[in-house]
Amino acid sequence: MCGIVGYIGERAAQPVLINCLKRLEYRGYDSCGIALLGGYTEIYKDAVRIEALEKSLQPNDSVIGIGHTRWATHGKPSEVNAHPHSDCSGKIAVVHNGVIENYMQLREQLTGEGHVFSSETDTEVIPHLIEKYYDRNLEQAVSRALNEITGSYAFITIHADSGELILSRKDSPLIIGIGDGEYFVASDVPAVLDYTDRVIYLEDGDLAAITKQGISITNNNERVTRVEDRVPWTVEEAQKAGYEHFMIKEIHEQPKVIRNTFAGHISALESEVELGLKNKEMGFSNILILACGTSYHAALIGKHVIQKLTQVPVTVDIASEFNYSESVLGNTLVMVITQSGETADCMKALKKAKELGCYTLVITNVVGSSAARIADDVLYIKAGPEISVAATKSFVAQLVMLYLFALSRSSIDVRSRASLIAELRQLPNKIHEILNREEDIAEQGRYLAGYENAFFVARGISYPVALEGALKVKEIAYIHAEGYAAGELKHGPFALLTPETPVIAIATRDNTYETILANIKEIKARESPVVAIAEDGDDEIGKYVDAVIRIPSVDPLFAPTTAVVALHLLAYYTAKERGCSIDMPRNLAKSVTVE
Ligand code: G6P
Repeated sequence: MCGIVGYIGERAAQPVLINCLKRLEYRGYDSCGIALLGGYTEIYKDAVRIEALEKSLQPNDSVIGIGHTRWATHGKPSEVNAHPHSDCSGKIAVVHNGVIENYMQLREQLTGEGHVFSSETDTEVIPHLIEKYYDRNLEQAVSRALNEITGSYAFITIHADSGELILSRKDSPLIIGIGDGEYFVASDVPAVLDYTDRVIYLEDGDLAAITKQGISITNNNERVTRVEDRVPWTVEEAQKAGYEHFMIKEIHEQPKVIRNTFAGHISALESEVELGLKNKEMGFSNILILACGTSYHAALIGKHVIQKLTQVPVTVDIASEFNYSESVLGNTLVMVITQSGETADCMKALKKAKELGCYTLVITNVVGSSAARIADDVLYIKAGPEISVAATKSFVAQLVMLYLFALSRSSIDVRSRASLIAELRQLPNKIHEILNREEDIAEQGRYLAGYENAFFVARGISYPVALEGALKVKEIAYIHAEGYAAGELKHGPFALLTPETPVIAIATRDNTYETILANIKEIKARESPVVAIAEDGDDEIGKYVDAVIRIPSVDPLFAPTTAVVALHLLAYYTAKERGCSIDMPRNLAKSVTVE
């Protein structure tokens, strides 16, 4: 998704902006550009990678500038549609994330007033509106322009006659990084980590003016102060550390991440879980979990876990669909799971749940994210920065947090709880064992890479793992893959089973094992190759399938956590064999800030 950056200080802005943009590459983009302020505004942009833009630039000693990575929404990727956008005078430049909903109407009106537009974007109305209201005070002009704009935005603007950055946000993230006599602006914390860990998170409606001397922020025309925070992430965490891709690095980080997630939450006697929620006494008759993408799959597993351990009914909905439902929620805890804390559909769902009067709890990875700030309560999964577009370590950390949540409210006896906690503590070691078998899984990945269609099947608590396995293979290996409840195969997909349609079956030994074995035999009878994900010590499965990926045995409640690590590795090696762009798959974005 689009990323924006800005710089004002003593050093040359151009290399700083390029570096910050490179740190945002992981979000996914198709074009990029920068604008620099000297006595005039210079814009360099194109539908190219940042490296190509960098190569085309001449040295420039301007100390003020803005930059952008674009993920096309209004108008195809092209030089003219790339940001920054300018006005008729060419003095103003704007970079913007979000969607200006009334841009057609504004564009018509401004065109009638003599403004000439060159792009197909919604963003271009912003510099023209600012130009319309500019009277030697950029902040005032922006403030007046904002009164006419509806939609979501985070934007930065500069003007050739004014040595400052003016920025504002509504429903789209924007942070200010504070250096020594210099300031960095970005849509996402990793962009500024090379320079500072001191940040201010702007609130919706904030309008900030930054000069070299300092920052002033207003909201609704009132002067406001925003506290400075320290980012809990390091630059090293946001780098590849010798791995070929962020995805494989992040898969390998999982044992450490799990330990981080449960650190501080388990009592000394190992029988209690304490999450430190603000409202410990929350009494509710049911839970609704909302999420998108991979986080939605974590939510589906969470449903099984919470219901089993607490007996509280749980429903799960895709955040974007919840936004259209005629919901009667009553005494419901609404839990939103979002790695980034910025997904637009999650934010809309969260706001709706709050409007309906529900207590809201967010499970997220990003401290200071929009979701974390508006929810009634928040649980941080502490997975560290996740750079690869395809979520892996955050998924496993979300699962661990859901286990902790369920255990903290469980109605089971102390002994059973202590035994589950002990098993949870063993998960990092079990995942290490899977990582040690990476080459065996890679071999299966190379095999799967030869096909264009695949099914992932499972039952019960592992069914969402099948959905997740299929999603990963789609996302990064560009293979058409479907995750299916094994029992549903015979209601349609059987028609597609041929020797050219491999099936990956998750067959861990829980109460679904015998039935899934029967399903595997039915699949084999249709001549589809079958690769099973099965536990160590299962001597039966090998008789019925073409290959087995082995995972260590764990309590069935935790089996999704181990099985999914095998599937993430499988998807990674499938994509690698197919030569795909693993960390930045085509058309996808890490943080989806549009609906
Ligand atoms: C995008 C990402 C996925 C992620 C989904 C939800 O599609 O590419 O990896 O699962 O958004 O993101 P969230 O940050 O809300 O968990």
